[in-house]
Amino acid sequence: MAVQKRVLSIFLIQLVLLAVSGLNRVDGAGLRTGYYDESCPDAETRALKTIRKAISKDVTVAAALLRLHFHDCFVRGCEASVLLNATKEGGAEKDGFLNLSLRGFDVIDDVKSAIEKSCPGVVSCADILALAARDAVQLTGGLFWKVETGRRDGRISLSKEIDANLPFSNFNITQLKQNFASKGLTKKDLVVLSGAHTIGSASCLTINTRLYNFTALDPTFASELKKKCKPGGILPVFELDQGSSTISDAHFYKAVRQNRGLLISDAALLDDHATRAYVKRQSTSAAGATFGRDFGKSMEKMGRIGVLTGSEGEIRQRCALVN
Ligand code: HEM
Repeated sequence: MAVQKRVLSIFLIQLVLLAVSGLNRVDGAGLRTGYYDESCPDAETRALKTIRKAISKDVTVAAALLRLHFHDCFVRGCEASVLLNATKEGGAEKDGFLNLSLRGFDVIDDVKSAIEKSCPGVVSCADILALAARDAVQLTGGLFWKVETGRRDGRISLSKEIDANLPFSNFNITQLKQNFASKGLTKKDLVVLSGAHTIGSASCLTINTRLYNFTALDPTFASELKKKCKPGGILPVFELDQGSSTISDAHFYKAVRQNRGLLISDAALLDDHATRAYVKRQSTSAAGATFGRDFGKSMEKMGRIGVLTGSEGEIRQRCALVN
């Protein structure tokens, strides 16, 4: 009897482990480039056209779109849970504190409407997020990678799941590596994907601790920031990559190397031998050329986290609502 109980409990533990690893798997089985070639051949062109229009009106939308895909993938996998609205049962992911500054939902909705016109019910919101992130980077810097598609949309989105899955900006390098490893990503992915901070901004609220309780910040830069961002302040926002925050390139690494990285997590990239070496390499203009290739590879890997494919999930009609 005791042996049977033990076998049963080992089996149950294995089941739980399998389920957990399934949520964070990065094998991307079921995804492929050109998934919509026959079912919706102009999906990618329609997405690009809509995103180009949005970015031409407001270039900062590019950063918002890139961040949306990341925040989607790290919580429940890349299945568009970040786009869902709250329900009677409680807050959705977008209501979680770390997600309150997410933007770009309207652009994703516009892309979805544009695509639905030619092929209703075919293209998932999760794929639109992945395409939008790529297009945003391409339109701001020319970096390009092929996006695998075939993701399906999830039906669950819970604000209470945010803190255990997204990295906090005050994480040290050990916490950052652990967080990425829990998603199947390496420390190379960590340092490469942090390069997303080549575009976009962070609020005074976000950088307060770094400014007032953290030393490794270039003193001239710190005093410039302190003039505009007072202790406990919320606004304004500051470029994550000072002077280059609308262009996707390797300049971010130069800023980090000069102790001008805005976030504690960006500065932390200097605290590990391998990530520091990468920052150093990319901060010289010759090596900077490899950033685009590395970024594409790591984005592809991130885009595979916990995807739903085949008959899992659904293709949402509207990205903010389950069908
Ligand atoms: C390594 C861990 C990371 C941490 C701790 C982190 C944290 C943050 C924080 C705190 C902000 C500013 C929020 C605000 O003040 O409004 C931000 C902005 C941003 N993050 Fe990250 N991030 C990380 C990785 C990533 C990754 C992997 C991507 C994309 C692949 C990304 C893309 C962005 C972008 C584009 C912005 C600017 C958004 C905008 O301007 O609206 N981040 N991040």
